[in-house]
Amino acid sequence: MNDIQENVPLSGRTVVVAGATGGIGEGMTLALLRQGATVVATGRSEERLAGLVAYAKDAGPGTLITHTVDVGDADSESVRAQLSAYGALDGAVIAIGDWGSPERTGILDTSDAEWQSMIASNLTSHFHALRALTPLLSRGGALVHLSGFSAEIPYPFAALVGATNAAKKSLVSSLTAELGGAGPRVHELIIGPIRTRPRAAIGADSPGWFSAEDLGRHAGRLIAGDGSHTKDPLQYLVTRAHGVRTTPPK
Ligand SMILES: NC(=O)c1ccc[n+]([C@@H]2O[C@H](COP(=O)([O-])OP(=O)(O)OC[C@H]3O[C@@H](n4cnc5c(N)ncnc54)[C@H](OP(=O)(O)O)[C@@H]3O)[C@@H](O)[C@H]2O)c1
Repeated sequence: MNDIQENVPLSGRTVVVAGATGGIGEGMTLALLRQGATVVATGRSEERLAGLVAYAKDAGPGTLITHTVDVGDADSESVRAQLSAYGALDGAVIAIGDWGSPERTGILDTSDAEWQSMIASNLTSHFHALRALTPLLSRGGALVHLSGFSAEIPYPFAALVGATNAAKKSLVSSLTAELGGAGPRVHELIIGPIRTRPRAAIGADSPGWFSAEDLGRHAGRLIAGDGSHTKDPLQYLVTRAHGVRTTPPK
């Protein structure tokens, strides 16, 4: 299943992980620290970032810096001004997201308020994060954005999750085209279910799924510009058995 289990050396490289307090974000942060990166972990809650520091305390040889900021805020200039203190970035990982209410609702029963709320938290926030973070990357750097596989398939009774994932995928592919190969590389990872601590805690876990640390190692490889996928803007990491692909598995 390719090289996703292997670490690549990232010492001397600085990577922002947005949404580092989340299940995927914390695992990716851990993997990037183990690869030697300086990780600037962002989140909106100081308390949750303090929890991340405790969780990652033994992860090295990299350095963990936390920065409380809402990368999904509309004031992209202010977000950028705060994070520009870390210099030109080698990598940025956008692992923010909101699954919405755990209650399953059909499209015909979805209220305008639920629609607006999901668009704001799971789409507009990503647009703002892309607008704030992309200009912080060095020309040779890489941006890694995550969207769920529901972008590709019907997602009955959770259609807003699917619709926002499809829109995020579209947004990132247009950004790639706009940069035209001249700016940082942009990678959209379309992911299946991922092994994370919060999901395992509620019994959602399977050895057949990629882990958040797998995603962190893969992102590290993309940021290092190493391996066979550095030229692939769109990648599918749906299950371990499928591996990393550039087209959706059937
Ligand atoms: N886990 C999976 O199996 C899976 C599968 C497919 C797709 N995904 C997608 O991958 C992303 C991360 O998933 P996850 O499981 O790590 O989710 P998670 O545990 O809920 O973490 C998401 C993080 O994003 C931040 N966040 C949420 N809404 C935000 C907003 N509007 N603006 C800025 N930050 C926001 C939160 O951090 P703070 O509140 O601390 O700022 C939170 O810690 C999501 O987009 C999810 O839909 C996950």
